[in-house]
Amino acid sequence: MNFPKEFMWGGATAANQYEGGWDEDGRGPTLFDVMTGGDTNHPRLITFINADGTPGTMREGEALPKDARYAVLDGYYYPNHVASDGYHRYKEDIALFAEMGFRIYRMSISWSRLFPKGIEDEPNPAGIAFYRNVFQELRKHNIEPLVTIWHFDTPLFLEEHCGGWLNRQTVEHYVRFAKTCFTEFKDLVKYWITFNEINNTIQFMKLAGRPAEDSDFQKAYQILHHQFVASAKAVKIGHAINPENQIGCMINGSTNLPFTCDAKDVIYCNQLWQKNIYYCADVQCRGEYPPFAERLWNEHNVEVKMEDGDLEILKDGTVDLFTFSYYHTNCVTTHKTGEKDKVPGNYQVGVRSPYVTYSAWGWSLDPDGLQYFMELMYDRERKPMMIVENGMGAIDEFRDGTVHDEYHIDYHSTHIQAMGRAMANGVKCIAYTTWGCVDVIAASTGQMSKRYGQIYVDVDENGNGTYDRYRKDSFDWYKHVIETNGSEL
Ligand code: BG6
Repeated sequence: MNFPKEFMWGGATAANQYEGGWDEDGRGPTLFDVMTGGDTNHPRLITFINADGTPGTMREGEALPKDARYAVLDGYYYPNHVASDGYHRYKEDIALFAEMGFRIYRMSISWSRLFPKGIEDEPNPAGIAFYRNVFQELRKHNIEPLVTIWHFDTPLFLEEHCGGWLNRQTVEHYVRFAKTCFTEFKDLVKYWITFNEINNTIQFMKLAGRPAEDSDFQKAYQILHHQFVASAKAVKIGHAINPENQIGCMINGSTNLPFTCDAKDVIYCNQLWQKNIYYCADVQCRGEYPPFAERLWNEHNVEVKMEDGDLEILKDGTVDLFTFSYYHTNCVTTHKTGEKDKVPGNYQVGVRSPYVTYSAWGWSLDPDGLQYFMELMYDRERKPMMIVENGMGAIDEFRDGTVHDEYHIDYHSTHIQAMGRAMANGVKCIAYTTWGCVDVIAASTGQMSKRYGQIYVDVDENGNGTYDRYRKDSFDWYKHVIETNGSEL
């Protein structure tokens, strides 16, 4: 493989899954702080107190009962409260990243560490100081920070009292937050992402535990419109504050493939691409809703409320980079299939493909799907790409101070090769960051045992452990990959 010499190798984490320190130094809570752990068979639960004082739980996506309040309850374990303890150990982690030779590190800023409720006029100085220290530490090691402004973690106050992203006012709260980040960290950060996996809102509705109704689609498309406007405004402000800023969208590259060559399957598959991927990517990269948007809205009687000037805002705020995550492919069909053909894992939809293997969480392992995604999306959006999440969640066996994780090595090696093939075919890609380079709490299940990292964190599913860091076999392997600029995989 011949990667450009300036290619940026690195790793990625997100504040709510990595930092912990959930109530320290003035940070406000987010929805993740009232969420228990789960697994593939048991969804994470959100805890609350009813108006009459009785405790309650619900699944993500369900509505809070009338007059109930989100609450941390006795008797439950909340994995994001301490997460990987990055809030206290980031220096040690950055030193390990440097040892691996990272040139870039993707992380996110916790909105509620800067604006505890989301509505304040001025940021929390302790939050600003924390992130300045992190960025300075990265710079000390010549690691370029790549910063996600929103990684699913809206302040809980905005969710609970203001209607979250359904409320147009959240756009302005977000813009104030984004502007603060661009201003405060102007001298330290130039790569940014406005919204993590913005397309999850529409593509994962199926996973809410019940069939989606028209009213769910109405909400989803409205939320997306607000986020598109917020992102476009942020991009414009980011460029005005520092013309050197490079700002990306972030699309979950969950790749759909048709199960058969029946044209009906191919059309169905294409329509899933339109809904799940192109819809968001086009608005953020081209600055306008795609031609099939009307059809998508009409299918569910959706009326997206837009304000005068919104379409111009979208036009003026297109991103510089096509930034995306890639984990797996979905095999989809219009044909009737039996229960046994369904894919059991979380986040994965469609039927079982005979051409791939599946992880313990039912996620398909399909490097060719990455090549396909990159070639298709580069043709479509023509923006320099960054793969900012890629990896495989697995159960690690920690023994004698290390983990022999040849499965992680194999996953990354085959996916880096696929990225190289796409690049050899003309795709411009400038960075690759492994997801959860240091083990983090899984977003979907809240598990620590679903590990992606090159660095092992000594803590179990219930928060027992020292939180000490250990190098896995994949640590040495990735170090060598970076040393040889991807020529020895
Ligand atoms: C992406 C998210 O959906 O996938 C990450 O951006 C997440 O936050 C990652 O951690 C992997 O998913 P999970 O559920 O295995 O953590």
